[in-house]
Amino acid sequence: MKTDKILDIAKRRGFFWKSSLIYGGLSGFYDYAHLGAALKRRWENAWRRFFLSMDENFHEIEPCQIMHENVFRASGHIDSFIDPVVKCKKCLNVERADHLIESVVGGSFEGVSLEDMSRIIREKGIKCPKCGGPLEEVGVLNMMFPVELGADGSTRAYLSPETAQGAYVNFKQEFEVLRRRLPMGLAVVGKAFRNEISPRNALLRMREFTQAELQIFFDPERIDSHPRFDEVSGYRLLLLPEKNRKSGKVSGVSCSDATRFLPRFYIYHMAMVQKFYLEVLGIPKERFRFRELVGDEKAFYNKYHWDVEILLESAGGFREVAGVHYRTDHDLSGHQKVSGESMEVSIEGRKFVPHVLELSFGVDRNIYALLENCYREEKERTIFSFPRRVSPFDAGVFPLVNRDSLPEKAREVQSMLTASGFSVFYDSGGSIGRRYRRIDEVGVPAGITIDHQTLEDGTVTLRDRDSMKQARVSIEKLPSALSRFLDGESLKALGKML
Ligand code: GAP
Repeated sequence: MKTDKILDIAKRRGFFWKSSLIYGGLSGFYDYAHLGAALKRRWENAWRRFFLSMDENFHEIEPCQIMHENVFRASGHIDSFIDPVVKCKKCLNVERADHLIESVVGGSFEGVSLEDMSRIIREKGIKCPKCGGPLEEVGVLNMMFPVELGADGSTRAYLSPETAQGAYVNFKQEFEVLRRRLPMGLAVVGKAFRNEISPRNALLRMREFTQAELQIFFDPERIDSHPRFDEVSGYRLLLLPEKNRKSGKVSGVSCSDATRFLPRFYIYHMAMVQKFYLEVLGIPKERFRFRELVGDEKAFYNKYHWDVEILLESAGGFREVAGVHYRTDHDLSGHQKVSGESMEVSIEGRKFVPHVLELSFGVDRNIYALLENCYREEKERTIFSFPRRVSPFDAGVFPLVNRDSLPEKAREVQSMLTASGFSVFYDSGGSIGRRYRRIDEVGVPAGITIDHQTLEDGTVTLRDRDSMKQARVSIEKLPSALSRFLDGESLKALGKML
């Protein structure tokens, strides 16, 4: 199975593995090893480049992840950030109720009421999966991790379950410092913590994970406009509206047609999110969709909620990796009420609490989706065909053989590329064929080989991971050739093909 192969490579080559492994591991916690950490950093940087460049008034901040309990009182997480659970009367094992029902009945039971879940458990005769004992009525569990601060533990705080609150509590100060303009975007790439009852599928459901979230504060009176809407009006969004859920039919709907049921500000950002997936991350169209959530399925703070889903065979179908959330003034008004600090802004003589559009991404789920989508098996090799700019390294530098001054020359080339800002590594172990296979397996897009001809005419070979073709490029032009290659140019444009 593909998952087992990916998990095997992840462990064997150093992408990720269970945390605290020397003590047997801890469920729901994973550590990124050297390649995984590099891949994750690249993904995060691609995300920053794309979303922060949408508007000059979008900025990244770095708030704390342990926050005052009132933050979560105001946001509604203390009351509403709950999962349905069911306890065994005999062995006291606790299961997530909707997942347990799904495992027996199939389908999705997210958002179904507690009473209905209790009824289904009774009607279907569902028992404790651990001991076969009878189950109690379905109840709820708050998913946040409380933290007791100080020597006497008298101050209660929480590990933040989403990075978003860090942006909201900083909104007013940033708005003043950034000269009182809307829209204003505050991005956070940081950790989130949730006490998931059944962590599973490696990076897909964890208890400590990374989110990349952009909170866009805007004037609610302008929700049906965006200054760059015309640029996307003909762009087709891939939508699974609620009414198509049974058939699973994804409709291509142009942004201008989507104005029949969504406001332009929301649609524009959906288009940008889709472009990020299709154009930057290279996810094939047929493996991408926006899924509409309605009623109680929506997060408690959302008015409009469409999830980004990617097809993951290992998870049995489409899985949520991100979301476009219209949170209205839910959070800012909540903070205004609990803190007593005004969140109102005054623009052109009008006073109002800004509304928030949130673009929310789970980085680890995206890393997993990237690994699964880019994994290929060919006759003699396995490869991760990551987008070139999102690979863990830009290139490997290899001396063809370990003699005749080729290693020294290769080190020179490596230093020159590192000084030019590329992330490259040196490898001289084993035959050149084996070294190429090794970089293919971890998705490094370029292989640069120093051979005897290098000593004669100052050229090296540049090999493309995907086609395995090579071109000769002069060392002098190598930084610009490598940069163009990483930007997507074909080898042919960069040197003489071999
Ligand atoms: N601020 C909004 C928010 O947190 P969410 O849908 O709860 O919304 C956003 O989470 C994203 O975070 C999800 O789309 C998913 O990619 C990721 N995510 C959520 N729970 C996760 C978990 N337990 N493990 C890994 N990623 C998770």
